[in-house]
Amino acid sequence: NDILPLSNSVPEDVGKADQLKDEGNNHMKEENYAAAVDCYTQAIELDPNNAVYYCNRAAAQSKLSHYTDAIKDCEKAIAIDSKYSKAYGRMGLALTAMNKFEEAVTSYQKALDLDPENDSYKSNLKIAEQKLREVSSPTGTGLSFDMASLINNPAFITMAASLMQNPQVQQLMSGMMTNAIGGPAAGVGGLTDLSSLIQAGQQFAQQIQQQNPELIEQLRNHIRSRSFSSSTDEHS
Ligand SMILES: *[C@@H]1O[C@H](CO)[C@@H](O)[C@H](O)[C@H]1NC(C)=O
Repeated sequence: NDILPLSNSVPEDVGKADQLKDEGNNHMKEENYAAAVDCYTQAIELDPNNAVYYCNRAAAQSKLSHYTDAIKDCEKAIAIDSKYSKAYGRMGLALTAMNKFEEAVTSYQKALDLDPENDSYKSNLKIAEQKLREVSSPTGTGLSFDMASLINNPAFITMAASLMQNPQVQQLMSGMMTNAIGGPAAGVGGLTDLSSLIQAGQQFAQQIQQQNPELIEQLRNHIRSRSFSSSTDEHS
């Protein structure tokens, strides 16, 4: 039998590596992510050609917010097994957490190509696509205002009320109304309306930033925390 083995792994090592993976999976369940990384690393040292070990370590690294390491592990897993949908899915999660939405979309699409029935890939793909649209929207601030949460935020209401007292804002609003109702821009195809709306939105955001930077920070955190729907999935 002259088939060359993929690695120098001896059977005992392969068995031990599998035990270490199981240990790692138990640490994951107990949320001991650093210990899990340790076990998967040892498993990889004994059997470097098992894609599952890299993929599982990627999940642990993501839990520790080590997204760059997680992505490297996913790439390694995919290099070993190009049909490993879970590795693409996990890479998508890590990329989303790093706000790399374009790459995240590509990753989830690949995961879905390989596993078209998986609902968590479908919903995570939608989230990444939505985020991508938000960051490449015409206002270009990368800051999306979640209206529902804004309206429920007392600090926002207070500030909106004080903004309305601002003569500049009042002028802006009345300008927008005029255009909307049939001012100079009416009949020009709505282009001027749109750009003045965008301008108004930007000025509005700037006003908020000046008057209440904390609110912006709160909003950013809020948006961030909603953007990462981490899945507590099974470990192979
Ligand atoms: C979808 O993928 C996740 C992550 O890989 C996995 O945990 C889950 O079991 C999959 N769901 C289905 C329906 O295959």
